[in-house]
Amino acid sequence: MSEEISTNVLRAAQRATRDGEWNASPPTSIQEMIAGVRLCRRCGLWRQATQGVPGEGPAKAALMLVGEQPGDQEDVAGRPFVGPAGRVLDAGLERAGVARGDVYVTNAVKHFKHETPSGGKRRLHKTPDAGEVTACRWWLDAERRLVRPRVIVALGATAALGVFGRATPVGRNRGRAIDVGDRARAVVTYHPSYLLRLSDEAAKRRAFAEFVADLAFARGLAV
Ligand code: URA
Repeated sequence: MSEEISTNVLRAAQRATRDGEWNASPPTSIQEMIAGVRLCRRCGLWRQATQGVPGEGPAKAALMLVGEQPGDQEDVAGRPFVGPAGRVLDAGLERAGVARGDVYVTNAVKHFKHETPSGGKRRLHKTPDAGEVTACRWWLDAERRLVRPRVIVALGATAALGVFGRATPVGRNRGRAIDVGDRARAVVTYHPSYLLRLSDEAAKRRAFAEFVADLAFARGLAV
Protein backbone atom coordinates (compact mmCIF):
# COMPACT_ATOMS: atom_id res chain seq x y z
CA MET A 1 0.00 0.00 0.00
CA SER A 2 1.35 3.42 -0.87
CA GLU A 3 1.97 5.64 2.13
CA GLU A 4 2.12 8.75 -0.05
CA ILE A 5 -0.27 11.25 1.41
CA SER A 6 -1.69 13.93 -0.83
CA THR A 7 -1.66 17.55 0.32
CA ASN A 8 -5.46 17.62 0.39
CA VAL A 9 -5.69 14.58 2.63
CA LEU A 10 -3.04 15.99 4.94
CA ARG A 11 -4.83 19.35 5.15
CA ALA A 12 -8.14 17.63 5.93
CA ALA A 13 -6.48 15.62 8.70
CA GLN A 14 -4.81 18.74 10.12
CA ARG A 15 -8.14 20.59 10.07
CA ALA A 16 -9.89 17.72 11.81
CA THR A 17 -7.19 17.66 14.52
CA ARG A 18 -7.30 21.40 15.06
CA ASP A 19 -11.07 21.66 15.13
CA GLY A 20 -11.64 18.47 17.14
CA GLU A 21 -13.75 17.07 14.33
CA TRP A 22 -12.56 13.49 14.55
CA ASN A 23 -15.89 12.11 15.65
CA ALA A 24 -17.78 14.04 12.98
CA SER A 25 -15.68 12.84 10.08
CA PRO A 26 -14.13 9.40 10.24
CA PRO A 27 -11.62 8.70 7.45
CA THR A 28 -13.11 7.60 4.16
CA SER A 29 -9.92 6.16 2.69
CA ILE A 30 -6.79 4.38 3.88
CA GLN A 31 -4.80 7.50 2.99
CA GLU A 32 -6.97 9.65 5.25
CA MET A 33 -6.66 7.08 8.02
CA ILE A 34 -2.84 7.11 7.75
CA ALA A 35 -2.70 10.92 7.82
CA GLY A 36 -5.14 11.04 10.74
CA VAL A 37 -3.26 8.47 12.85
CA ARG A 38 -0.02 10.38 12.36
CA LEU A 39 -1.69 13.55 13.71
CA CYS A 40 -3.95 11.93 16.29
CA ARG A 41 -4.57 13.63 19.66
CA ARG A 42 -7.49 11.48 20.82
CA CYS A 43 -5.61 10.58 24.02
CA GLY A 44 -2.43 11.86 25.66
CA LEU A 45 -0.06 9.17 24.35
CA TRP A 46 1.03 11.26 21.35
CA ARG A 47 3.04 13.48 23.73
CA GLN A 48 5.63 10.82 24.48
CA ALA A 49 5.70 9.04 21.12
CA THR A 50 7.73 9.84 18.01
CA GLN A 51 4.69 9.38 15.76
CA GLY A 52 1.39 7.55 15.41
CA VAL A 53 1.85 4.18 13.70
CA PRO A 54 -0.99 3.25 11.33
CA GLY A 55 -1.69 -0.26 10.06
CA GLU A 56 -0.24 -1.48 6.79
CA GLY A 57 -0.99 -4.13 4.22
CA PRO A 58 -3.24 -4.75 1.22
CA ALA A 59 -6.24 -2.39 1.24
CA LYS A 60 -8.64 -5.34 0.88
CA ALA A 61 -6.82 -8.03 2.85
CA ALA A 62 -8.96 -11.00 3.93
CA LEU A 63 -6.95 -11.35 7.13
CA MET A 64 -6.27 -8.53 9.62
CA LEU A 65 -3.85 -8.98 12.51
CA VAL A 66 -4.22 -6.66 15.49
CA GLY A 67 -1.40 -6.24 18.01
CA GLU A 68 -1.25 -4.16 21.18
CA GLN A 69 0.70 -0.99 20.39
CA PRO A 70 3.92 -0.06 18.55
CA GLY A 71 7.10 -0.92 20.42
CA ASP A 72 10.34 1.06 20.62
CA GLN A 73 11.48 0.20 17.08
CA GLU A 74 8.01 0.58 15.54
CA ASP A 75 7.72 4.04 17.11
CA VAL A 76 10.89 5.13 15.32
CA ALA A 77 10.20 3.34 12.02
CA GLY A 78 6.52 4.35 11.87
CA ARG A 79 5.56 0.79 10.88
CA PRO A 80 3.93 -2.01 12.92
CA PHE A 81 5.75 -5.17 14.02
CA VAL A 82 9.25 -4.46 12.68
CA GLY A 83 11.12 -5.20 15.96
CA PRO A 84 11.66 -8.39 18.01
CA ALA A 85 7.93 -9.16 18.36
CA GLY A 86 7.61 -8.68 14.60
CA ARG A 87 10.25 -11.33 14.01
CA VAL A 88 8.28 -13.82 16.14
CA LEU A 89 5.13 -12.87 14.27
CA ASP A 90 6.87 -13.37 10.91
CA ALA A 91 8.15 -16.80 12.00
CA GLY A 92 4.64 -17.81 13.12
CA LEU A 93 3.08 -16.60 9.89
CA GLU A 94 5.63 -18.48 7.81
CA ARG A 95 5.03 -21.71 9.72
CA ALA A 96 1.27 -21.22 9.31
CA GLY A 97 1.64 -20.74 5.55
CA VAL A 98 0.57 -17.09 5.60
CA ALA A 99 2.52 -14.51 3.57
CA ARG A 100 2.94 -11.33 5.64
CA GLY A 101 2.47 -9.29 2.46
CA ASP A 102 -1.07 -10.71 2.16
CA VAL A 103 -2.26 -9.57 5.59
CA TYR A 104 -3.17 -6.18 7.01
CA VAL A 105 -1.20 -5.64 10.23
CA THR A 106 -2.19 -3.02 12.79
CA ASN A 107 -2.42 -2.31 16.51
CA ALA A 108 -5.21 -1.60 19.01
CA VAL A 109 -3.33 1.53 20.13
CA LYS A 110 -1.36 3.59 17.62
CA HIS A 111 1.14 5.38 19.87
CA PHE A 112 3.99 3.83 21.89
CA LYS A 113 3.29 4.01 25.64
CA HIS A 114 6.45 3.70 27.70
CA GLU A 115 8.44 4.90 30.68
CA THR A 116 12.12 5.73 31.10
CA PRO A 117 12.99 4.62 34.66
CA SER A 118 15.37 6.80 36.70
CA GLY A 119 16.01 9.24 33.90
CA GLY A 120 17.72 6.58 31.74
CA LYS A 121 17.52 6.39 27.97
CA ARG A 122 15.89 2.96 27.67
CA ARG A 123 12.22 3.24 26.87
CA LEU A 124 10.31 0.47 28.61
CA HIS A 125 6.95 -0.65 27.29
CA LYS A 126 3.87 0.14 29.39
CA THR A 127 0.54 -1.55 28.75
CA PRO A 128 -2.09 0.90 27.48
CA ASP A 129 -5.07 1.34 29.79
CA ALA A 130 -8.70 0.71 28.88
CA GLY A 131 -9.33 4.45 28.24
CA GLU A 132 -6.48 4.60 25.73
CA VAL A 133 -7.67 1.43 24.00
CA THR A 134 -11.20 2.86 23.82
CA ALA A 135 -9.98 6.21 22.44
CA CYS A 136 -7.95 4.43 19.77
CA ARG A 137 -10.76 2.02 18.91
CA TRP A 138 -12.05 4.77 16.67
CA TRP A 139 -9.06 4.15 14.36
CA LEU A 140 -9.29 0.39 14.58
CA ASP A 141 -12.99 0.53 13.71
CA ALA A 142 -12.14 2.80 10.76
CA GLU A 143 -9.52 0.32 9.55
CA ARG A 144 -12.05 -2.51 9.88
CA ARG A 145 -14.62 -0.56 7.87
CA LEU A 146 -12.11 0.35 5.15
CA VAL A 147 -10.33 -3.01 4.79
CA ARG A 148 -13.37 -5.25 5.51
CA PRO A 149 -11.33 -8.32 6.49
CA ARG A 150 -13.07 -11.68 6.65
CA VAL A 151 -11.03 -12.67 9.70
CA ILE A 152 -9.46 -10.56 12.44
CA VAL A 153 -6.78 -12.07 14.67
CA ALA A 154 -6.40 -10.40 18.06
CA LEU A 155 -2.84 -10.88 19.30
CA GLY A 156 -3.12 -10.80 23.09
CA ALA A 157 -5.53 -9.35 25.64
CA THR A 158 -5.15 -5.65 24.77
CA ALA A 159 -5.79 -6.38 21.10
CA ALA A 160 -8.83 -8.45 22.10
CA LEU A 161 -10.16 -5.49 24.14
CA GLY A 162 -9.78 -3.29 21.06
CA VAL A 163 -11.42 -5.80 18.72
CA PHE A 164 -14.36 -6.84 20.93
CA GLY A 165 -14.79 -3.71 23.05
CA ARG A 166 -14.74 -5.80 26.22
CA ALA A 167 -12.26 -7.92 28.16
CA THR A 168 -11.79 -11.23 26.33
CA PRO A 169 -9.17 -13.41 28.03
CA VAL A 170 -6.84 -15.21 25.61
CA GLY A 171 -6.71 -18.55 27.48
CA ARG A 172 -10.48 -19.02 27.49
CA ASN A 173 -11.07 -17.86 23.93
CA ARG A 174 -8.25 -19.33 21.84
CA GLY A 175 -9.05 -21.85 19.14
CA ARG A 176 -12.52 -20.71 18.15
CA ALA A 177 -14.07 -18.36 15.62
CA ILE A 178 -16.05 -15.52 17.20
CA ASP A 179 -18.63 -13.63 15.16
CA VAL A 180 -17.93 -9.88 15.14
CA GLY A 181 -20.57 -8.69 12.65
CA ASP A 182 -20.03 -7.31 9.14
CA ARG A 183 -19.63 -10.95 8.03
CA ALA A 184 -16.30 -11.08 9.83
CA ARG A 185 -15.05 -13.47 12.47
CA ALA A 186 -12.29 -13.04 15.02
CA VAL A 187 -9.72 -15.40 16.46
CA VAL A 188 -7.84 -14.70 19.69
CA THR A 189 -4.28 -15.85 20.21
CA TYR A 190 -1.11 -14.99 22.10
CA HIS A 191 0.81 -11.78 21.64
CA PRO A 192 4.25 -12.52 20.10
CA SER A 193 5.94 -10.67 23.01
CA TYR A 194 4.37 -13.17 25.43
CA LEU A 195 6.13 -15.95 23.52
CA LEU A 196 9.41 -14.01 23.71
CA ARG A 197 9.07 -13.62 27.48
CA LEU A 198 8.54 -17.33 28.26
CA SER A 199 11.78 -18.56 29.83
CA ASP A 200 10.98 -22.27 29.98
CA GLU A 201 12.02 -23.73 26.61
CA ALA A 202 9.39 -26.50 26.56
CA ALA A 203 6.61 -24.03 27.43
CA LYS A 204 7.89 -21.66 24.77
CA ARG A 205 7.85 -24.38 22.09
CA ARG A 206 4.34 -25.46 23.10
CA ALA A 207 2.99 -21.90 23.08
CA PHE A 208 4.62 -21.17 19.72
CA ALA A 209 3.02 -24.32 18.24
CA GLU A 210 -0.38 -23.14 19.56
CA PHE A 211 0.26 -19.69 18.09
CA VAL A 212 1.02 -21.23 14.69
CA ALA A 213 -2.10 -23.43 14.94
CA ASP A 214 -4.24 -20.34 15.68
CA LEU A 215 -2.80 -18.46 12.70
CA ALA A 216 -3.38 -21.48 10.44
CA PHE A 217 -6.95 -21.74 11.76
CA ALA A 218 -7.50 -18.06 10.94
CA ARG A 219 -6.01 -18.54 7.46
CA GLY A 220 -8.47 -21.41 6.87
CA LEU A 221 -11.43 -19.22 7.92
CA ALA A 222 -10.31 -16.41 5.60
CA VAL A 223 -10.43 -18.39 2.33
N1 URA B 1 3.99 -5.12 19.62
C1 URA B 1 2.79 -4.81 19.10
O1 URA B 1 1.77 -5.13 19.66
N2 URA B 1 2.76 -4.17 17.98
C2 URA B 1 3.85 -3.81 17.32
O2 URA B 1 3.72 -3.19 16.28
C3 URA B 1 5.08 -4.16 17.87
C4 URA B 1 5.15 -4.81 19.02
